[in-house]
Amino acid sequence: MITACRKAPGAAALARLTTAGAISHALVCARLLYSPSMLSQTLENGRKLADEALERLLPPLEERPTSIHKAMRHSVFAGGKRLRPILCMEAARAVANELAEGIEDLGAALEMLHTYSLIHDDLPALDNDDLRRGRPTCHKAFGEAVAILAGDALQTRAYDVLSQLRCPAEARVKIIEEISRATGTVNGMIGGQVVDLEAEHSRPDAETLEYIHRSKTAALITACLVTGGIYAGASPDEVNHLRCFGRSIGLAFQIVDDVLDVTQTSAQLGKTAGKDLASEKATYPALFGIEGSKKKAAELLEAASNAVEYFGSRGDSLKSLARFLVERRT
Ligand code: IPE
Ligand code: IPE
Ligand code: MG
Ligand code: MG
Ligand code: MG
Repeated sequence: MITACRKAPGAAALARLTTAGAISHALVCARLLYSPSMLSQTLENGRKLADEALERLLPPLEERPTSIHKAMRHSVFAGGKRLRPILCMEAARAVANELAEGIEDLGAALEMLHTYSLIHDDLPALDNDDLRRGRPTCHKAFGEAVAILAGDALQTRAYDVLSQLRCPAEARVKIIEEISRATGTVNGMIGGQVVDLEAEHSRPDAETLEYIHRSKTAALITACLVTGGIYAGASPDEVNHLRCFGRSIGLAFQIVDDVLDVTQTSAQLGKTAGKDLASEKATYPALFGIEGSKKKAAELLEAASNAVEYFGSRGDSLKSLARFLVERRT
């Protein structure tokens, strides 16, 4: 408790200005503390909600053609962290102080899009990876043709799910617009993947590297936060703060992914470690070193935390998640 207060310079000063200083100081400290067990519960509940929705929304294994449904489920149910649905749900909680009914379907659609991006990222023509989420990659298990189609199918199913979200039609259209742009070619996921491939075996400048990471990864993470907010009825100001949070934490997320590729083992990551160096990828450690990259991630974490100050105590779970994303080991 005391450590957390010391880390928050404004808190003690604020408490001293009040008549019931001691009590409000305690309250301010309590607000700053989102305990590890609260974070574990947020992660666990979010994962459970996302998994149940995915189970319900993906075609069953026995549905014809079974090969592609097996491939889709192989990659989706391989033990991903489900961070994107969790961020989406916690953005909704920051806005409405509760989980809007049916938001898990939005989270599931975002996870389908993320999984599609991973299946395609692993293909021989892209990163050529054999291991994903602790399992053989989709093309290793099912062949390249089915893997390409499984990625496509997760994408089309995601939009099918989005078209049926249980929120006002205007919000539904905004959500679809936000997600389709974030995964597209202009500052979006596909654009980032293209420049990531084109930058292999070169030493890109810092601006190009940031463009790659913001586009291939931060754009979709930002869309998770923004659309979670929109689903919960966020005001334009609230959307702006969520966007700001997402842009910072999304970039930090990919910087940390680059660092983990160098510092962790394949067994720890459930994907091939050391792959970026072998493929001469444009990464933050390659340009700024491991310590320089960690410093950048820490700065982005601070910027993200400042952005959700706007929500007061309702933003505490997002703040805590942001720290978790930066400090994660997998
Ligand atoms: C991996 O994302 C791909 C990147 C964008 C860096 P995650 O680290 O969220 O992967 P899963 O979903 O937990 O497998
Ligand atoms: C992947 O980046 C980004 C997307 C899938 C869009 P990486 O290529 O670094 O992801 P990993 O390390 O294979 O998970
Ligand atoms: Mg890649
Ligand atoms: Mg990859
Ligand atoms: Mg990586």
